[in-house]
Order: sequence, then structure tokens, then C-alpha cells
Amino acid sequence: MPPSVIFVVAHDRRGVMGRGGSLPWHLPEDLKHFRRLTIDKPVIMGRKTYASIGKPLARRQNIVLTRDAQFESPGVDVAHSVAEALDLAAPAAEVAVIGGAEIFRAFSDLVDTAYVTRVEADVEGDVHYDAPARPHREELLSRYSADDRNAYSMTFLRFDYSAHASVTGGSLNESNPSL
Ligand SMILES: NC(=O)c1ccc[n+]([C@@H]2O[C@H](COP(=O)([O-])OP(=O)(O)OC[C@H]3O[C@@H](n4cnc5c(N)ncnc54)[C@H](OP(=O)(O)O)[C@@H]3O)[C@@H](O)[C@H]2O)c1
Repeated sequence: MPPSVIFVVAHDRRGVMGRGGSLPWHLPEDLKHFRRLTIDKPVIMGRKTYASIGKPLARRQNIVLTRDAQFESPGVDVAHSVAEALDLAAPAAEVAVIGGAEIFRAFSDLVDTAYVTRVEADVEGDVHYDAPARPHREELLSRYSADDRNAYSMTFLRFDYSAHASVTGGSLNESNPSL
């Protein structure tokens, strides 16, 4: 069985997820959420996201995607295609794809569940998240209000793209009792 694929992403109300090669915000509460979702799992990221983090994430197998045949970096496994990245992640039951935007696009047909932090702000940025254009079920997990450590409120959401969610052929809406 190939591992199931989750996305873990934070974006603002208009989909902005990056600026100038890094995150457009510092939100410790979202970093905690990210850690909880990814700890002890393989994580797959693009070479630019790896550069922005600057080091391998602890307690996770770090898989970096690049087309550069020469690329290497201590503590990371290097993949040159989506299939190779998934092979490196097996036999884990679940792999976390953690961005950036290019990598989310490359895995959009494979994602089972996306954990999305919607940052309740409109920020400037140059990298946008394109949500997979597939039937899904959206679930509200929790909300967090801005405080002195987190400049913006956040809404933690889960999008289920699994085959079960797609049998209706359209987006499921929790408020529609007929679904
Ligand atoms: N808010 C969030 O949740 C979040 C999460 C992650 C990142 N970010 C932000 O997003 C930005 C980076 O995103 P990005 O879209 O510019 O870059 P990225 O997706 O991190 O990395 C792109 C690179 O990945 C490699 N790549 C892409 N597709 C590939 C494929 N099919 N096969 C092999 N290699 C492939 C290429 O590396 P080479 O050029 O080496 O060939 C490409 O240049 C940063 O601002 C970062 O801070 C935000």
C-alpha cells in the first residue's frame, strides 16, 4: 500500500502562503499545529522550502524534491520526481507534503487530506496555494484568536479528498442534510 498523503499548509484569506522565499508571518500557534501533524512522519518539500527552513526538521524523515541531479544536503533524502519521493517515504503509513506551492501542485492528484490553516488576514505575498480542484468534504477543526504572540487569528480546517468524499461528484457541504 502506498502511504496516504496529507498536505499541511497555511494561507491567508486570498491564498497567499509565501513572500520573498519565506513565510509572511510568525505564528507560533500554527507552528505547534504543524509540528503535531508532521512529527515522526516523512515530510516531502520543495528545494525552495527546504532552503527557507535552512535545516532538516527534527524527528522527521526529510525528503527534498529538486530537478538538480547534483543537489545534496546532510540529513535529507533527495528525490527528483513525485514517484521517487513517495518511494523514499514508504513504508510509512502516511506522508506529509509541506510545500511550497509548486510541490502542492505536483501532488494535487494524490492528496487524501489537506490540513489548512486559514490565516484570517490579507497579506502581501508572491506565492499562492492552489487548492486541489477535486470533490472534497471540508471540516472545521478549531479556531484560534490573535493574541500578543500571534498577530492574526487562525482557522484550522481539514479537507478530505479521499475516494469516499468524491462519490457524490461535488463538494460536500456539512449543512446539506441530504448528503
Ligand atoms: N505557508 C505555508 O504553509 C508554506 C509552506 C511551505 C512553503 N511556503 C513558502 O512557499 C515559498 C516556496 O514555495 P515555491 O512554490 O516557490 O517553491 P517550492 O515548492 O518549495 O520548491 C520549488 C522547487 O522544487 C523543485 N521541484 C518542483 N517540482 C518538482 C518536481 N516535479 N520534480 C522535482 N523537483 C521539483 C524544484 O527545485 P529545483 O529548482 O532545485 O530543481 C523547484 O524549483 C516560500 O516563500 C516558503 O516560505 C509556505
